[in-house]
Amino acid sequence: MKICLTIAQARAACRATRGSGKRLGLVPTMGALHEGHLSLVRAAKAQCDAVAVSLFVNPTQFSPTEDLSKYPRHFDRDRQLLEKEGVDILFAPSVEEIYPSAPTLHDATWVSVDGLSERLDGRSRPGHFRGVTTIVAKLFHIVEPDAAFFGQKDAAQLAIIRRMVRDLNFPIEIVACPIVREPDGLAMSSRNAYLNADERSRALVLHRALVQVQDKFQDGERSAATLIATAKEVFASQPNLVLDYCEIVDPDTLRPVEQISRKTLAAVAAYVGTTRLIDNLELNP
Ligand code: PAJ
Repeated sequence: MKICLTIAQARAACRATRGSGKRLGLVPTMGALHEGHLSLVRAAKAQCDAVAVSLFVNPTQFSPTEDLSKYPRHFDRDRQLLEKEGVDILFAPSVEEIYPSAPTLHDATWVSVDGLSERLDGRSRPGHFRGVTTIVAKLFHIVEPDAAFFGQKDAAQLAIIRRMVRDLNFPIEIVACPIVREPDGLAMSSRNAYLNADERSRALVLHRALVQVQDKFQDGERSAATLIATAKEVFASQPNLVLDYCEIVDPDTLRPVEQISRKTLAAVAAYVGTTRLIDNLELNP
């Protein structure tokens, strides 16, 4: 596995790979890798001839009050995991390499997807998706992959990146990969490491609420308001948790849907202690 710390090194390695006629897949991550990330790497290995993984804790997608400084960082462990998966290129730049004018970034170019970036997580995390689309656009320009792999776990992020790729004509196929869960249903997340034992068991309510919604949906319920009320009852049964949002939305526009007549997304976010967790599932009639 070639490790690239600079943009120039990454660009050269990726160009050489593509120049030899290989289809190159990119898996963008912030590290602290778990099976969810590795499932993207395996999908990329299966669909491409070579795989590049980026590992960069992107400061511009964290607000000043969020967990940037305590975000888990395990570079050596991540490197070993990626090596074992047969990754070809690991791009792990410093903050200064990616954002030379950091930390102020007053005079800077941003890529933002209007509208979508203010829905779901964007409502409670202003500026978050602008940080995501800016770093992902930069990674796309540096790596120039044929395909890029993202998890369905971050459903709003996926919709926003698809929109950016369409609107800015990136010649890149976006591949969505299913949510990987712990055996008890909790969606895997680097942030699960913040949870103590009590919070870890409380966190299960997100998945439980979604399963209830799915059961009702499978019984024929198509009213979003009724399904949301069902989920909120489950959340109410776990008072030590602050619900951020619980919505049923169009998976492309992230706008609320009233009656479910085609594929929609049931999405939830909640604070367990100080840790913000998200989860979702697809409802397909
Ligand atoms: P990060 O949270 O590290 O996630 C990297 C990728 O792994 C994302 O596409 C995310 O959806 C996917 N992922 C995380 N947990 C998953 C799970 N349980 N099952 C399936 N996929 C999962 O998302 C980011 O980083 C950043 O915003 C990034 C896109 C790298 C830009 O900085």
